[in-house]
Amino acid sequence: MLKKFCLGAPLFLCLLLAAPTLRAQGKGKDAAGHPWWQHAVFYEIYPRSFMDSNNDGIGDLNGITSKLDYLKDLGVDAIWITPCFPSPQVDFGYDVSDYVDIDPMYGNLANFDTLVAEAKKRSIKVILDFVVNHTSDEHRWFLDSKSSKTAAHRDWYIWRDGKGPNQHPNNWLSTFGLSAWQYDPNTKQYYYHYFYPEQPDLNWRNPAVERAMFDVTRFWYKRGVSGFRLDAVDTLFEDPNLTDNPVAPGTDKFGRPKTIEKNNKKLPEIHQSLQRLRSVADEYDAVLIGETWTQNVAQLKDYYGESNNELQLPMDLMLTDLNFSAPVFREHIGAVDAAGGWPTYVITNHDIVRSYTRYADGVHDDSIAKMMAGLYLTLRGTPIMYYGEEIGMKNTDPESKEQVKDPIGKLGWPLEKGRDGERTPMQWTSGANAGFTKGTPWLPVPPTAKTHNVETESKDPNSVLAFYKQVLSLRKSSPALLEGKYIALNESDPNVYAYLRQNGNETILIVLNMSATKQEPKFDLTKQGFSAPNTKALVQNSSKAPDGPLKTVTLDPYGVYIAKITK
Ligand code: GLC
Ligand code: CA
Repeated sequence: MLKKFCLGAPLFLCLLLAAPTLRAQGKGKDAAGHPWWQHAVFYEIYPRSFMDSNNDGIGDLNGITSKLDYLKDLGVDAIWITPCFPSPQVDFGYDVSDYVDIDPMYGNLANFDTLVAEAKKRSIKVILDFVVNHTSDEHRWFLDSKSSKTAAHRDWYIWRDGKGPNQHPNNWLSTFGLSAWQYDPNTKQYYYHYFYPEQPDLNWRNPAVERAMFDVTRFWYKRGVSGFRLDAVDTLFEDPNLTDNPVAPGTDKFGRPKTIEKNNKKLPEIHQSLQRLRSVADEYDAVLIGETWTQNVAQLKDYYGESNNELQLPMDLMLTDLNFSAPVFREHIGAVDAAGGWPTYVITNHDIVRSYTRYADGVHDDSIAKMMAGLYLTLRGTPIMYYGEEIGMKNTDPESKEQVKDPIGKLGWPLEKGRDGERTPMQWTSGANAGFTKGTPWLPVPPTAKTHNVETESKDPNSVLAFYKQVLSLRKSSPALLEGKYIALNESDPNVYAYLRQNGNETILIVLNMSATKQEPKFDLTKQGFSAPNTKALVQNSSKAPDGPLKTVTLDPYGVYIAKITK
C-alpha cells in the first residue's frame, strides 16, 4: 500500500498521504489487511483438566501459565479458556455466579494478569468464554430476581405464570433433560432455563441486561483479553408469546417426545444484539467466536452478519458431525468456503466425543488423527484445536453411572453418558497421573496416557504430536495456507480428498486418503495453470511420491501428502 502512494513522492509527503490508509487498515491488521485472528491458530483449554499447579486435582490458571512454552512451541497463537469465573460448578463453570472475577479453585485475578502478561511475552492472545445465555442461580442478579415479583432484577430473567395449577407455561424442553421451566414456590411463577435449572436464562429483551453484559466484556478487554467465545448464542432469545414448539415423531435420548425448537432457538433478534456486541469488540480489536450449532451453511452464514458485522468466527460445528468420507467432506467444505465469510473449523471440543475416538477404526487410529490434522489445518480459515487433540487423546467415558461427574450423564445414563470422557486430564508424561497433578485428578487419567503423552511423543518423529507440529509450522510460513484460495481437485474421487491452496505464486497441493485401502490418485492441473507441474513434498504420512514431475501419489490407508507445486 505504502509503495503505491510513495512512487516518486518525497518521504514526508508519502507518509502524510499514507497515514489515513494505515489508520483505516485498523490496528492489528497486517500489511495485506488481514486481522490477527485470520492467521491465528486457536487452542481450547478446559482449565479443570489442563495442568494442576497446586496438586488439588483440579487444573488452574498457574498451571496454564506453566505450559505456555509448550503451546508456543506447538504453534498456538491464541488460547480460549472455558469458564474460570466463580461458579457453583453445576455445569463445571458454565453456571457463572460472578462474571468479573476468577473462581478460587482456578486462582485469582492476579494469577490471571500474570497469565495474560506471560502469554503476551510469547505473542499468545487470551480469549475467555462468555456465557451469554444464562447465569448461575447463585448469581446476585438471580438471587435478587427471585426474591420478589417487584425486585429490581425480576425482569432480568424470564418469569411466567403456569398455564394452570401444576402446568408449565408451555412445552419447551431443557436440552439437558426434563422441562425448561422451574417453579419458584416463593413468587409462584416459573423461570425459564434452556440448560440445567441452576442456569436461568437471562432476558436479553431487557436493555439493562445488555448493558450489564457488555460491561463485562469491557472489564476483560481492559485486562488484556483479546476476545470471547460466546457460549450458546443460538438460545439468546425466545418467543415472548411462548408459542409451543411443534412435536415431532419419536423420542429423544432422555425418552421425551421430540420437539422442533422453533420458538426458542435462532430467533432473528439475536443478530441485533450481536451487532452491538461486535461494536464494543471492535473498540478493542477483539474477536468474537460463536458456539454456533447450525444445521446448514445458510444458518452459519447468518452469524457473520449481513455486512460481516456480527461474529468474525462462527464455528463450523457441522464439521464434527459429518460422515467420514471424501465426498461428504469435499461437499461440505466447498460450501463453507464459498459462503463468503472467513471459515472457522473445529473437529472436537469439550461437549462432543473426541475426534480421535469418533474417527478411529481400531487399526489406523494414529494415521487417521494425522490425516484429520492434515485436513483441517490446511483449509482456508481459522482452526480451533482442543487440548490433547495434538497428542491423539481419546475419549475415556465413565464405566458406570456412579462414576459420572457431568449431571447429564447421570440423568441420561446409559444412552447419554455425559461429557466426562472428552474432559479427562491432559496427558503430559507417561508417569503418575500423566504429570497432570500430584494429587488425585478430578477425572481419572486414561490408560492411553502411557503411550500418548507430550513427553513420549516429543521424542518420536512419527508421533501424532510431531505431525501436528510439522503442519502447524508449515501453515505459519506459507501465505498460500494462511490465506490462499481453496481449489478442490479430482471431485469425483470417492476415497481421496485433494485440493490446492494458492496465493500469488505459491501453490500447495494437499492429498488425503480418507479410506482404509491404498490409493493412487493422478492429477491433471492444466486447468489450474500447470501443464507440467513439479512437486516438492513438505509434509507426509504414509504416502509416497518422488519430488519432481507430478505423477501418481501413492497413499497407504489414511495417508497424507502435502507438497509445493511449481511450473
Ligand atoms: C455450551 C457449553 C457447554 C455448556 C452449555 C451450557 O454448550 O459448551 O459445555 O454445558 O453451553 O452453558
Ligand atoms: Ca489446582
